[in-house]
Parts: sequence; C-alpha cells; structure tokens
Amino acid sequence: MAAKNKERNPMEVITALAKRRGFVMPTSEIYGGIGSSYDYGPLGIEMKRKIADLWWKEMVRKHENIVGIDSSIIYHPRTWEASGHVDGFVDSMVDCKKCKSRFKAEDLVEHVKKAKGLNELPLTPDGENLDPDNPGYAQLPCPKCGNRDTLTEPRNFNLMFKTHVGPLEEAADKVFLRPETAQGIYVDYPQVQTVSRLRPPFGIAQIGKAFRNEITPGNFIFRTREFEQMEMQYFVKPGDEDEAMEYWKEERLGFWRDVIGIQGDNLRLREHGPTELAHYAKAAWDIEYKFHFGFSEIEGVHNRTDYDLKRHAEFSGREKDLQYFDDQTRERYLPYIVETSAGLNRGMLATLLDAYCEDEVDGQTRVVLKLDPKVAPTTAAIFPLTKKDGLPEIARKIYDDLKLDFNVFYDQQGNIGRRYRRQDEAGTPFCFTVDHQTLEDNTVTIRDRDTLDQPERPKIDALPGILAEKLRN
Ligand code: GAP
Repeated sequence: MAAKNKERNPMEVITALAKRRGFVMPTSEIYGGIGSSYDYGPLGIEMKRKIADLWWKEMVRKHENIVGIDSSIIYHPRTWEASGHVDGFVDSMVDCKKCKSRFKAEDLVEHVKKAKGLNELPLTPDGENLDPDNPGYAQLPCPKCGNRDTLTEPRNFNLMFKTHVGPLEEAADKVFLRPETAQGIYVDYPQVQTVSRLRPPFGIAQIGKAFRNEITPGNFIFRTREFEQMEMQYFVKPGDEDEAMEYWKEERLGFWRDVIGIQGDNLRLREHGPTELAHYAKAAWDIEYKFHFGFSEIEGVHNRTDYDLKRHAEFSGREKDLQYFDDQTRERYLPYIVETSAGLNRGMLATLLDAYCEDEVDGQTRVVLKLDPKVAPTTAAIFPLTKKDGLPEIARKIYDDLKLDFNVFYDQQGNIGRRYRRQDEAGTPFCFTVDHQTLEDNTVTIRDRDTLDQPERPKIDALPGILAEKLRN
C-alpha cells in the first residue's frame, strides 16, 4: 500500500510539507529570509523536543554514570585556541570570478567529475591527469557556469563566528560562538566529576546550539549555520577507549533505529578514512542515513584520545585539576574521551524523510508521515463525528482530561475524512472519534494512521492507559 514517493526530489517534497504544515519554515520571511536559517513551527518544535527528550532519556536516565549540563555558548576565547579550532577549524574555499559561485575545495573535484559524468580525470586544458590531492583548482572548469580559468586558488576560511564582548568593539575581547558543544563539557569536567562523584567510565551530556559559518550550507536543514547538537563525552581510563567505541557505536545506531524509528535499511555505520579525520580524532565512525543524495552523517562517534584535556591542561596551566585521581589505586591520569555527537536538526530531517509516504486511498493520493508515535508531534487527535447531539462536549472533555499528559489535538471542523487526512500529513498516529454509539456505551473509535483500521472501541477511561502504552520505549 505504501508506495514511497520516488519521482520528485524528496527534499523538495519534505521542505514544502514542512512549510505547509508548520514543521519548519524559512526565518524572517517578511524580509525575504536569510540563507539557510529556519524557524520551527508548532508541529516542528514538538517533534524536535521529543527527539531531544528521547535522547536525554536514552543517555542520561538510562545510564547511571552519565550526567547532564547546560553550558554557555560563549566560552573564554582561550578555549578555542586550546581546542585547535582557531588554527584548525578551517575549510578551504574556491570562488568563481565569473559567476561568483563559491565551493568547498574538497567538493570541487567531485562536483566536476559528476557534472561531466567522468569517473576519471583528466580535466586540465592540456588533457593531463589531475592529482586529486593537489588538483590545481584554478584550471578546473567552474561546475556552475562551466568557464575555465575563472576559479581562484583555494583560500582557508575559519568556520567560527566571531563577535566581541563589551560595549566598545575596539577595546573589547574577541570571542567566538561555539562551533561544538563538546568543549563546554571538557572545561567543566573537573567540577562536574567532583560534584557528581563520578569514576571513569562516566559521561557528561548536553544539548545545545552550535554555530558554524559554513561555506556551502544547504539541503534544507541538513547543513545550516546555526544548529543544535546532542553530545555526550565519555571519560575512560586510557586503554579502555576501544571497548567504549564499540559500545557507543552500536548504542547510537540503535537509538536512531529502535527509539526514533528510522528504518534499519536506511542507516549504516561507516568508518572514517585517515584523510577524513577531524584534527582531534584518532578514530571516527559516522552513523549515516540514506539521503537521496547518498548516505550522509547524522551522528559521529569519535575517539578523541586525551587530545582535548591535554591541550586544556597546557593552555590553562591547570594540569593537575584536569587529571583524574583514583583514590583506590592512587593513580593520576588524563582520561581518554569517546564522544557521541548527533545533529538534532539533521536527525529530525532524516526522520521526516524516512517517514514520508504516499498511498492510494479511495482512489485518492494520501500523504502520510509514518512517524513513530514517540516522535509524532501530536499523539492523538480527538474528533466529535458531528457538531450536534452533545458529541463535541464529550470530545472536548476527553481532550481536557488528556492534554496535560499527552500531545492531543481537538478538531470539530469539516468532514471527518478531511480531518483524518490532515492528521495523516502531520504524522498523528491515532484519532479518537466520538460518535452516537459513545452516547450509549461510553466508547470511542480509534483509527490507526498506518493501517487505517479501527480495530477496537475502547471505553473513554481506558484512553490514558492506551496512549501511555503506545508511547512506551
Ligand atoms: N563535537 C564533534 C562534532 O561537532 P561534527 O561531525 O562536526 O562533530 C556532529 O558534528 C554532528 O553535528 C553531525 O553529525 C551533524 O549531525 C551535526 N552538524 C554538524 N554541522 C552541521 C551543520 N552545519 N548543520 C546541521 N547539523 C550539523
């Protein structure tokens, strides 16, 4: 029944649905918007919060040895010198002098190969092979306008957003908006470890905004300049990091598949090659979702060794404070760190794309988001069949009794078929309808979004228990 939408570009389809139904829309649109910045509407914020809450539950509540924090966005600027971001968090960009397009240098060779349908270079004017590690960018044709000799040589560009604290720009300290939430955890770790009396292995988790002045943002909310991360830093005794990597790779893949409900076939784990590794990582695995443009990362699991703590120890001069002292073995050491770093917005995009279906019902195309009930913005919609005979009063009472514990929605406008369709498109898994039989036996119908069945007529007072059961992990 569920014929997935294949013909049109899935990203365009989901972007249009997201805007139409108030999941995600371009920001400040009355002024024409600003590139790659989005606002989350009434349905979007509910869904995003649910994913974040499920992550928190999975990491902090499920694991006794993981605690949460919420650090500020602006840290002491030395943090970013120590972390390596001031020197190392750079992308290399290439501009076309003719059409003014901008590209990431690393993407350029791929762009050109794809555009020309070539698997092998040569692309130089004299037909010689290009070395992909040193491609002589200026000689490549611009992938946008096709002109040659119009591309600049690559220029390095730091991705951190800079601003200043204090009223006078000249006299003020230059600071950065954090490009990852991880560093807030590292600099707070000694205090958090002490107050929580944690012993390795232990984790510190946080969810928060991160900012990157991306050269090529795009693909809706896949890559934006402002986004949210859900990160957990796991502190282990040196030597225990490989075991921790194995554990967290599987746990995190399982989260997206079993908790969030993304189809397992559309997810995979992929190890980074040596040239892909970030400056802080010794080993890294991506959890990738099968987007229509190819498998791409939604979360990374990284072995960061003691790189970050060592650097903070050096730059702050507080080496002893950053070491862990084991009072049983009398050992003192800098813990190694295994990081799990997920994109909340990107994960939500994958979840929406994965849930999108079109099927035929009564000769008409039905658009439905087959979201897991745990992440659906509305868990149940409550309808009176008609506006007469006291049905709205009963339906409203059901709504009032459920609304503080569950995301429920009341609607009495229009014909019942249209009301069901609107909820299908919003991903609402259950609709409760109050009809004339309700007047006789206090039962309602439950319509299942995916099967369209109405298998049972539960009593009204059983509804909270039914919803709680559907939302259980
Ligand atoms: N602390 C490690 C770290 O930040 P990362 O691979 O750069 O690692 C982790 O980012 C996750 O953050 C990615 O898997 C992705 O989901 C998300 N992310 C990174 N840059 C993003 C962007 N510009 N827009 C949206 N999400 C982004």
